[in-house]
Amino acid sequence: SEKVIFDTDPGQDDAVALLAALASPEAIEVLGIVTVAGNIPLSHTTRNALSLVELAGRTDVPVHAGCERPMLRPLVTAEHVHGPTGLDGPDLPPPVVTASPQHGVDFLIDTIRAHPPQTIRLLALGPLTNIGVAVAKAPDIAARLKDIVLMGGGYFEVGNITPAAEFNFYVDPEAASIVFASGAAITVLSLDVTHQMRATRERIATFRDLSNRSGAAVAAMLDFSEGFDVEKYQWEGAPLHDPCVTAFVLAPETFTGRAVNVEIETGSALTRGMSVVDYWGVTGRPKNAFWVRSGDADAYFALLAERVGRLP
Ligand code: BDR
Ligand code: CA
Repeated sequence: SEKVIFDTDPGQDDAVALLAALASPEAIEVLGIVTVAGNIPLSHTTRNALSLVELAGRTDVPVHAGCERPMLRPLVTAEHVHGPTGLDGPDLPPPVVTASPQHGVDFLIDTIRAHPPQTIRLLALGPLTNIGVAVAKAPDIAARLKDIVLMGGGYFEVGNITPAAEFNFYVDPEAASIVFASGAAITVLSLDVTHQMRATRERIATFRDLSNRSGAAVAAMLDFSEGFDVEKYQWEGAPLHDPCVTAFVLAPETFTGRAVNVEIETGSALTRGMSVVDYWGVTGRPKNAFWVRSGDADAYFALLAERVGRLP
């Protein structure tokens, strides 16, 4: 099974990504969860991660708090999307377990160095601050990773927090830029594919119908997320972003894409955090990422429901 570390800012969609992975021990061994400030401040993302390992009955997985602000900029959050707790919707019990004392960035570096090269996959669901800092502190980890699979950016679908940028890259563009320049093998699940993954009423109902507590929690999370995004997009169902990362690890054959060069805008105020993707190969710049273009939405929701159905 694949050894992975999650870097995340839960967030309802982060939560579903984590739950699906925690439900799949035969395929994914979660070595740890590192939290980052993003959708909400770090204290909330850490508390939410702890609640989620408890919900999943997986308190054996350590949670490490990472960076509380982006590398160079003040934190921008998204309570307007995720609610004041970041995980509004379900009634999750307050966590009993506590976070591990080691800083998330040091956990990343030590864990990657302690394993043989090319064995760890880093699954990133939030702003890339922790990974940017880890690579700055320990550049050897980039080549040592098997790969980084991340949610962020957009080329055909461009932006969701500004007309030019997706939230995760917008919040910490310097970190995103460092990650794409690190030399690590990277797969990107951007808005181009996540906008195809819409949590319709019917799809949300399949989680509720699982009749376990995790299914009920996921349905309540997706009901909550729907409120904001459906109004914004006028689509039937809000896009479910971050679980694309877990689904890509579990079922890569349900996605298609191509190798491209990706660079991140850090200079401009207008296009801060924009992912500049050489999709048509016009620059000759080296290909530094696999850019996922589309995925099978029915297969995606079926996979997620099946996994969440395995949990308590
Ligand atoms: C990303 O931003 C966050 O709000 C979501 O959790 C996801 O990681 C989508 O742009
Ligand atoms: Ca996220």
